[in-house]
Amino acid sequence: MPAAYPTLLSPVRLRHKTLKNRVVFGPHTVNMAEDGLPGDRHLGYYRERARGGAGMIVVEPSPAHRTGVLTRGNFLAESDAVIPHFRRITEACHEHGTVMLHQIYHIGGHGDQDNSWQPYWSPSGFPSMHDPWGSHAMTGAEIEEMIDAFTAAARRDREAGFDGVDIFAGYNCLVDQFWSPLTNRRDDKWGGSLENRMRFSVEMLERMRRAVGEDFIIGLTVSGAEPSPAGLSLADKQEILSLLDERGLIDYVSCGTGSYLYDFGKIVPSFHYEMKLGASDAAAYKSVLKHARVTAEARIKTPENAEEVLAAGQADMVSIVRGQIADPHWTAKAASGRRADIRPCISCNQLCIGRRMRDYYASCLVNPSVSREFDWDGDAAAPADTPRTCWWWAAAPPGSRRRGWRPNAATASG
Ligand SMILES: Cc1cc2nc3c(=O)[nH]c(=O)nc-3n(C[C@H](O)[C@H](O)[C@H](O)COP(=O)(O)O)c2cc1C
Ligand code: SF4
Repeated sequence: MPAAYPTLLSPVRLRHKTLKNRVVFGPHTVNMAEDGLPGDRHLGYYRERARGGAGMIVVEPSPAHRTGVLTRGNFLAESDAVIPHFRRITEACHEHGTVMLHQIYHIGGHGDQDNSWQPYWSPSGFPSMHDPWGSHAMTGAEIEEMIDAFTAAARRDREAGFDGVDIFAGYNCLVDQFWSPLTNRRDDKWGGSLENRMRFSVEMLERMRRAVGEDFIIGLTVSGAEPSPAGLSLADKQEILSLLDERGLIDYVSCGTGSYLYDFGKIVPSFHYEMKLGASDAAAYKSVLKHARVTAEARIKTPENAEEVLAAGQADMVSIVRGQIADPHWTAKAASGRRADIRPCISCNQLCIGRRMRDYYASCLVNPSVSREFDWDGDAAAPADTPRTCWWWAAAPPGSRRRGWRPNAATASG
């Protein structure tokens, strides 16, 4: 067992796979697809995080259905054309011993018609806080079509060599729009009682398992309590997840923060938020789940943060997204006594989610190799031979408060 970060660097069993450590490069839309296909840019991006030691990677989501397209760089929905292109990525990352998953999403009533050219489909046709378009209340036949589309996407992922799928069931998007009485006002078998509101997820997970077989991981990305007294409380979500767990429908639950409903900014929390932001909600889920593993997300930045969360039993795995965007070799450095060399993410949100929100592919303020890994053969952003001093700091009079502050790569943690 490694002396430093013994829990973080220990293996963990997840269904039929053993992750070599507890570090997950969680799902995030980097928006890099070319004509809807994963290309060299994606290959270089994920291969570099696999080289850098991540135990599991969850590749950027595909929309399950044509009505769920959200960005210009989304992968093609409902198309087998993606399969050989994803296979290049799974094969390259498997060479480094990384377990490979792929997220499947549908954002329900929060879509982007400018990109999908389709009305958004949602349980009850409510508008989103994001845009003025409103959404279309799905008919019973459309709900069946949507479940089949999720199932087909999982089958496609299996054929592309993925070890499993991550179903997007958080942030008040399609799956939890069905769960929530705030957004599900249906009076048929898909709404009303808890059993009815859960039916969409239960049907989907059951059909998916039948389609992909037993040796395939199926997990859920969820979030905590809904930010409204009329929405789902943490206890409501605990009940839903434990019912899915009791039926053996989920292998893990990954707990993020924020919501498309009101607090969108908290989904990718900036430095204004506390560290280890999602750990307490993850712990609440872990306390009620008997079989499924739990991943904590959001502002887990340093190996120390991660070890604390895991050693305290708040989660079984940790998702480090921006930490590994900023330094793809985060895990290898933590494991080999090079903790001080980790290039820290500063939670500025400028070039990762900032570029994604402007519908460009993601990059990083502190790591210029992000999105150029294929061309540069990895993280080629070596420290400058002669570090330059910030003009703002240098211009400060000696002894001033400004002079008291110095950037320190070894201790900064965003
Ligand atoms: C550019 C970007 C895009 C994201 N897109 C998704 C997404 O498509 N699906 C998802 O579940 N989470 C998405 N997230 C949220 C991350 O999975 C994660 O919860 C969030 O970044 C907080 O974790 P971190 O502090 O480790 O970055 C995204 C994050 C970023 C930075
Ligand atoms: S752009 Fe900023 S927040 Fe995003 S990964 Fe880089 S340092 Fe972190």
